[in-house]
Amino acid sequence: MKTTHVTPLATQFLSAQDVIGLVQRLGLPHCLRGMAANIHQDFLRWKAFDKSPRVACHSPDGAIELMPIADDKTFTFKYVNGHPKNPQHGLPTVMAFGVLSDVATGMPLLISELTLTTAIRTAATSVVAARALARDNSRVMALIGNGAQAEFQALAFHHLLGIEEIHLFDTDVEATAKLMRNLQANPDAQHLRMAAYASASEAVRGVDITTTITADKTNATIITPDMIEPGMHLNAVGGDCPGKTEIHPDVLRAAKVFVEYEPQTRIEGDLQQMPADFAVTELWNVLAGKTPGRESEHEVTMFDSVGFAMEDFSALRFIRDTALAQGMGQAMDLIPHLADPKDLYQLVKPAARKSARSASPATTNAPAHHGAPSAAIVAA
Ligand SMILES: NC(=O)c1ccc[n+]([C@@H]2O[C@H](COP(=O)([O-])OP(=O)(O)OC[C@H]3O[C@@H](n4cnc5c(N)ncnc54)[C@H](O)[C@@H]3O)[C@@H](O)[C@H]2O)c1
Repeated sequence: MKTTHVTPLATQFLSAQDVIGLVQRLGLPHCLRGMAANIHQDFLRWKAFDKSPRVACHSPDGAIELMPIADDKTFTFKYVNGHPKNPQHGLPTVMAFGVLSDVATGMPLLISELTLTTAIRTAATSVVAARALARDNSRVMALIGNGAQAEFQALAFHHLLGIEEIHLFDTDVEATAKLMRNLQANPDAQHLRMAAYASASEAVRGVDITTTITADKTNATIITPDMIEPGMHLNAVGGDCPGKTEIHPDVLRAAKVFVEYEPQTRIEGDLQQMPADFAVTELWNVLAGKTPGRESEHEVTMFDSVGFAMEDFSALRFIRDTALAQGMGQAMDLIPHLADPKDLYQLVKPAARKSARSASPATTNAPAHHGAPSAAIVAA
């Protein structure tokens, strides 16, 4: 049999600790910049992707979702949940991991943590949109919702867009105090001014950009029309599943609304409140120069972000490539190695069972291994 495509046999694993180490080694601003560059680049290749809205299982307190996407070489998917009451149980609201596979063979090449990565890629995506939609020289941003994602948004807008001052509000004053403590202790935020406010309406007064990143599985109205000022850009990130919104419908009516992938945002975004013919523009059109973004200093623009699979594809590429360059990651025994690929039964036929038992870690202390080479991360 002639082999034409050589695929590595080992799946590589990047643990939470590996990715934390990678981000610490490279610095958060570098990772935000790298992911934003990949996301922008991939938006420009929009038509190269096989896209679909994510698949979600909803329960009263949350959602568990799968987000697949592929180009002609690489397939990725992310597993992610959203459970706003999780912090009461000592768990984050959002947890995620992802897989990157070879399209030609279906071989899974990488399994990676994506909880931390999701926060970085979400903030990077917000900046990619704001660069195209917010007024030039935007310097002040309101940040409504100061939970797990919030520092990443603050640092992304500070380093990648030039935001110098953020106005903070959260219904939980402890969340705002945590954010201020974290950023005050961070040399990467030493030039970022911060102030806490008693309400969302006070926090948004006079700002150039309003970011909403709250978590509540309800149709909340955190931003109402009276809070909108001419020229404001809204980065609406927390309304991202059916029955979970943040922005009053009249705000959408008064704004020019941009989305990641329209079929998904119609189901999950603040857009779910609007009629099916309410006009929106997919962001890639603006980035590719096909459609204007902001057209005047007075226009109100809104990025109705829900998080799209392509952003995780871009983030996984960044994580894989930087881990490869840093020699990080471990080979994982996920797919059994077969001497004859048509003879799966060889792995469990009685003789193989016996030799597997005698070679098991419990009896020999040797690692269980089916011949997959142990190597650092391999490029797809
Ligand atoms: N669009 C995307 O790509 C994307 C990606 C990741 C997360 N998210 C969403 O972002 C949101 C935040 O995620 P997180 O991990 O930071 O959650 P989190 O639970 O850690 O923080 C959410 C914060 O929102 C606050 N909050 C709730 N209701 C509020 C209100 N009415 N006004 C002000 N503050 C309020 C909570 O007190 C909490 O501190 C979630 O809804 C999540 O689903 C979106």
